[in-house]
Amino acid sequence: MHQFTKTLVTTALPYANGPVHLGHLAGVYLPADLYVRYKRLKGEDIIHIGGSDEHGVPITITAEKEGISPQDVVDRYHRMNHESFLKCGISFDYYGRTTSEAHHKTAQEFFTDIEQKGIFIRKSDKLFFDRKADRFLSDRYVTGTCPICNNAEANGDQCEQCGTHLSPLELINPKSKLSDGTPELRETMHWYFPLGRFQEKLENYVSQHEEDWRQNVVNYSRTWLKQGLKDRAITRDLGWGIKVPVESGEAAGKVLYVWFDAVLGYISFTREWAAEQGQSERWKEYWQNPQCRLVHFIGKDNVVFHTLMFPAILMAWNEGRQSGCYNLADNVPASEFMNFEGRKFSKSRNYAVYLGEFLEKFPADTLRYSIAMNYPENKDTDFSWQDFQNRTNGELADTLGNFIKRSVDFTNSRFEGEVPYACTPEEWSALGINWPETLEQLDLAYEGFHFREAATLGMDIARAANRFFTISEPWKVVKLDREAAAKTMALSLNLCHALSVALFPVIPETCNRIHAMLGFDGRIEELVRPGKSLLAELLSPGLNKGHKICPKSEILFSKIEESDIAPELAKIEGLLAEAVKREAGAEQNRMEFKPVISFDDFLKVDLRVAKVIAAETVKKATKLLKLQLQVGSVTKQVLAGIAKHYTPEEMIGKNVIIVANLADRSIRDDVSEGMILAVEGSDGKLFVIEPEGNEINGRQIQ
Ligand code: MF3
Ligand code: ZN
Repeated sequence: MHQFTKTLVTTALPYANGPVHLGHLAGVYLPADLYVRYKRLKGEDIIHIGGSDEHGVPITITAEKEGISPQDVVDRYHRMNHESFLKCGISFDYYGRTTSEAHHKTAQEFFTDIEQKGIFIRKSDKLFFDRKADRFLSDRYVTGTCPICNNAEANGDQCEQCGTHLSPLELINPKSKLSDGTPELRETMHWYFPLGRFQEKLENYVSQHEEDWRQNVVNYSRTWLKQGLKDRAITRDLGWGIKVPVESGEAAGKVLYVWFDAVLGYISFTREWAAEQGQSERWKEYWQNPQCRLVHFIGKDNVVFHTLMFPAILMAWNEGRQSGCYNLADNVPASEFMNFEGRKFSKSRNYAVYLGEFLEKFPADTLRYSIAMNYPENKDTDFSWQDFQNRTNGELADTLGNFIKRSVDFTNSRFEGEVPYACTPEEWSALGINWPETLEQLDLAYEGFHFREAATLGMDIARAANRFFTISEPWKVVKLDREAAAKTMALSLNLCHALSVALFPVIPETCNRIHAMLGFDGRIEELVRPGKSLLAELLSPGLNKGHKICPKSEILFSKIEESDIAPELAKIEGLLAEAVKREAGAEQNRMEFKPVISFDDFLKVDLRVAKVIAAETVKKATKLLKLQLQVGSVTKQVLAGIAKHYTPEEMIGKNVIIVANLADRSIRDDVSEGMILAVEGSDGKLFVIEPEGNEINGRQIQ
């Protein structure tokens, strides 16, 4: 096992194209923050690098819709998201942006290095071009009629009505979104990254981590590897992004593909962080030092970019280098999704709770706790207002908050606001909390990215503490045996202290308030020293006899009333009703196929051309016609449900297609020895399928 001395944590760079919502927080930013804060408490050297992803086509579309520049769009959302994260206590060491000059340089440096090594491939392809706008049109800039459902407003990449994935070339009547004109096809050249060149290396890389990576991460990566890695275009014809750093005219109007540049943002931002520290070379200790552990927190939709694409880019850079090589990720804890009231978060449908809005109404720690308890580690989970209310009121307010307040208040009212007794380590261990075991479990939970367990273990300590206080009844005992009550209070205050440390990663602001109530100055994060674990100190009681606590207590959590969440519930009810309506509309057009059958199964069906030689109606069965069919040398009788659409006379003489090897079926005291093929028209009329030409009946359909 590798011995690491430091850790570099990165979090997926959210697009600066909209506000981040609770789903983002749950999958990526909160878990990363829990991990980072925990490791800092242990005295480890760890930094958390994140920032905004500010390139890509959707940002230019937002800009066009609003009549502002892409820069305006990213300025707005970068600021908004960074603020929301800070308000939520996500403790980034650096929060960068991919529009920074330094980042453009990094990305171009990588491109140039790989280009000079001759690794990229150039390929030409035909793409829609808008003459009036003088621009190539990426998929999203083309609309037209869906070839599947006839929706006149299908997008170049997907039809929203029937859900079919499309290419702009498949659209009927393609139109440019920029000018409404009909685009023309033009040749364009792009740089491709030959992922396949790194197939074997990437296979080895993934295999090395088969044991320590999550199942979903290994699976997604393996699925791609199995299909064989293909060349990926890493440039685009677009005006917004990082210019392709090639002098010749062939790079004119081209930028780097957003994913090629975004993953390199992690490196740029670490460089910017180091420069900000006044130690401009320090980033190398995190990226180019094999003793630094690299961990990417992401959502499951980003897996292959982090386990295959980014590593391949780094491999290409590292090729032929003795020094200045980059580390590959040691772990990529990708989350599943957290849904919201039983449905997927959807920005385009506004079905979301945005982080900034949430924090205007409720304190960050209540959210952090609820979300940690619903962390989508290996299956999708759900956030509901009810669950949020229950956890806040029952667990945070009634259990944790109540215990802290009782302990502080009783010490103030009966023991002059001082720790009234020197607890011994034996008394500390006799509390019913096995500290060595608890700390070990906590460590396993955090180090293994099991954040639900980690938060649960913290709350379990609070439960045990609250129980201890209740059972000890210091308010009664103090009248009979002051020393016994003093001991209870000293142990309780030590438990408050232990909770302020153990729960710190989850609810940092609250823990700092507990810290202050216990009479300490400064913040918990300031106590951290390299190599010194604040958690290890919980193995023995930490508060000395005579230590003065704060004379005033605070209510740590106010309860969430029905009236606080009623408007939220009403809002989702409205959104849900809209969603149901929309889905009902889409349902009619959706292509739902029967389960897949194998080719061999298909070959079992014997389709033949048959000639109708006789036809008659069937008594008491107004829908049926009884047909006699000539199939080569055989005649077959078929009962077909077409009497409403064809007269017997119309049928006689027709060539039709019959399933010739269908088991006989008895229908209305008669027998049907096959089935003829027909299709329903839009008005519900049936048409039998008639093979064209002078078919010889009995011929097999291939
Ligand atoms: N912006 C991307 C998304 O939201 C994530 C980019 S992660 C990075 O899905 F690796 F590219 F930084
Ligand atoms: Zn469609």
